[in-house]
Amino acid sequence: MRKKIVAGNWKMNLNKAEAFDLFNRLKQTKFPSNTDVIVFPPSVYLSQMTDSVLNVGAQNCYHQSNGAFTGEISAEMLSSLGVKYCLVGHSERRECFNETNKDLAKKVDALLASNITPIFCFGEKLEERENNKHHQVVLNQLTESLFHLSSDQFSKIVLAYEPVWAIGTGKTASAIQAQEIHLFVRNFIAENKGIDVANSIRILYGGSCKPSNAEELFLCPDIDGGLIGGASLVYDDFIKLIDITSKI
Ligand code: PGA
Repeated sequence: MRKKIVAGNWKMNLNKAEAFDLFNRLKQTKFPSNTDVIVFPPSVYLSQMTDSVLNVGAQNCYHQSNGAFTGEISAEMLSSLGVKYCLVGHSERRECFNETNKDLAKKVDALLASNITPIFCFGEKLEERENNKHHQVVLNQLTESLFHLSSDQFSKIVLAYEPVWAIGTGKTASAIQAQEIHLFVRNFIAENKGIDVANSIRILYGGSCKPSNAEELFLCPDIDGGLIGGASLVYDDFIKLIDITSKI
């Protein structure tokens, strides 16, 4: 049995007062023990959030450990704050900041070396799906960024399938579309990294996930929870998503 995850990606939202208001409400909430809850606030708030029972992750890091890289934050620095998770390869980073599969491989290495769990995001754009290239795109993303890892290292990561056309658009992948990719990826991992790794790795779905569509998605056998953007900024919606997940 894979333990489900509900992860909230706050992106570049919430000023200090708003962020701590949401954080403090979440901190005081008792979560079901069968679900891992993680929030990803903007990095400027992390140092004041990591001493709590709530799992906190970073949205990004740089692959170098230190040096003349103005504006960047290393995995080592995150680790020194007590950060346990970090998103890698979110489509907004690939799009807005030109991060390539090779760049992401270096970030994954740096995070694993600092004992931080990478949550590796992957997924196709709309035109790639329309041209029936989505399977190949997803395989390339996984192969080029992750397949240099040993089976042991691979088993330490979490994956998040986020079709780009579903992120922030209100357009969710259907449960059938999402399950089909999750199973396809799990089978690919089984062939390359072994059946035990494939059976234990958690693969989240992300993209316009909300209380009204979560149950259908999370009931799918290869979907192990969600990476939630917009709905994670609304306390009641995020709590509902955790509740739905824990009852599946
Ligand atoms: P969304 O974002 O839930 O707002 O679509 C998901 C994500 O980008 O992780």
